[in-house]
Amino acid sequence: MYILGLTTMGDAAASLLKDGKLIAAAEEERFSRRKHHSGFPWMAVEYCLAEAGITLKDVEHVALYWKPWVLSHKAWQALRSATLSWEMFQARIDRGVAQISESYLGMFQYPARLRERFGPSDFKFHYMDHHECHAASCFLVSPFQSAAILTADGTGEATTTMFANGCCDDITPRQRIKLPNSLGQFYSSVTNFLGFDMFGGDEWKVMGLAAYGKPTYYDFFRNQVVTLEGKNKFRVHIDVLDHHLAKRYQFSKASSENCEENLCMAGGVMFNSVMNGRIMTESKFKNFYIQPAAGDAGCSLGAALLVWSRKLGKPAQFEMDHAYWGPKFSSDQCAAARRKDDRRWRHHRLVQRTHGVRSARAGRTQLRRRPAPRRHARVAQPQGETA
Ligand SMILES: [Fe+2]
Repeated sequence: MYILGLTTMGDAAASLLKDGKLIAAAEEERFSRRKHHSGFPWMAVEYCLAEAGITLKDVEHVALYWKPWVLSHKAWQALRSATLSWEMFQARIDRGVAQISESYLGMFQYPARLRERFGPSDFKFHYMDHHECHAASCFLVSPFQSAAILTADGTGEATTTMFANGCCDDITPRQRIKLPNSLGQFYSSVTNFLGFDMFGGDEWKVMGLAAYGKPTYYDFFRNQVVTLEGKNKFRVHIDVLDHHLAKRYQFSKASSENCEENLCMAGGVMFNSVMNGRIMTESKFKNFYIQPAAGDAGCSLGAALLVWSRKLGKPAQFEMDHAYWGPKFSSDQCAAARRKDDRRWRHHRLVQRTHGVRSARAGRTQLRRRPAPRRHARVAQPQGETA
C-alpha cells in the first residue's frame, strides 16, 4: 500500500510510504533551486513516484499536513489585534487574505490537480492537523515505544506549541499553546526587526548568528517580550514586538508533570541546537529523538504516517535513522554533468575529518573518542543545508 504525504506552503516536500515504511522523500527546493520553496511540490511528487517505480494510480492515500478550514482562531486573533493597534490589525488582515486566497482555498483543489497532472487515481485525500503531523514525524519514526512529544513552530492552523504523549502507535495531545503565543513567531519578529526577511527563510540565519552574539538584550526579551506563566506556559507580548510589524519597530520547558524518560521533538523551533542542548542537559529526560527535517518539510512524512497509524490502524513499521532520502547521483552522472559544463573543476576525495585524526602510519582514519555523554541523545543525521 502506498501513501503519499504532502507539505505545500513553505518548505514544500513530498514523502512516500510503502506498507508503512518510508521509501522516498524530497523537498521541492532541491529541484526548483528556490530555498524554502513555497507551493505545490510537483517535482518532489514526481521524484517519489519515479523512485518507487509507480504511478499515481498505485497510490491509495494522499495526506496533506494542514486543515485549511480551521480559521476561527486566527480570525479572532486578527480582530483582537485591533484593540492593540490599527496597524497590527491591518497587517494581519492583509496576510490572512493573502493566505486564504493563495494557499488555503487552493488546498481544496489538490485532489483534482493531482489527477489532472498524474492521471486518474482512486486515492483518498486526507487533511491532517499540522502539529500532529510534526508529532508523528518524530515519535512514529523514533526507536521509542513511549515518549513525551514536544512540537514548536511559527504556527499551525492555530497551535504554535504542543505537548503530547506517544504510546505504541498512538499520539495523544495533552496541551496546546495557540496564537499569538508563538516561539517561532518570536524568532520571526527578531528576524524582521534586524532587517532580515522571515518569509525568505532568514530565521535560520539569525538562529545561526545568535551563537556569535552577546546577550545584550536578554533582559528586555525575557521580561517584556516572552514571559513565563506558571510552569508549562509562556506568553509572547505582541504589543511590544509583533512579527508582522517588527520591521517598523525600534526598541532602546517541557511539561514537568510528564513521567516519561524519552522525549521526541519536531517543529522549526527545534532546529535550534543551543536550545536542544539545554533541554538535553537540564531537563529530566534521558533519551531524545529529534526529527532531522524538523521544519514543515518533515510534516509530509508525519501526515503520511498519521494516515497509516491513525486512519488505517496499522502498527509503526519504520525507524528513521538518517535523512538521506533525496535524489542520488553516481560518479558517472556527475562526470557527465561536468563535461557539459565549461567551468573549471577538480575532483575532491572526501576525507572524514569530523571528530577524527588522520593516521599517517595506518593510512586510515582513526576516531578520537569523546568523553561519554551524560545522557544518550538519539539524533538522526541533519538535513543538508538547513541551519
Ligand atoms: Fe510547522
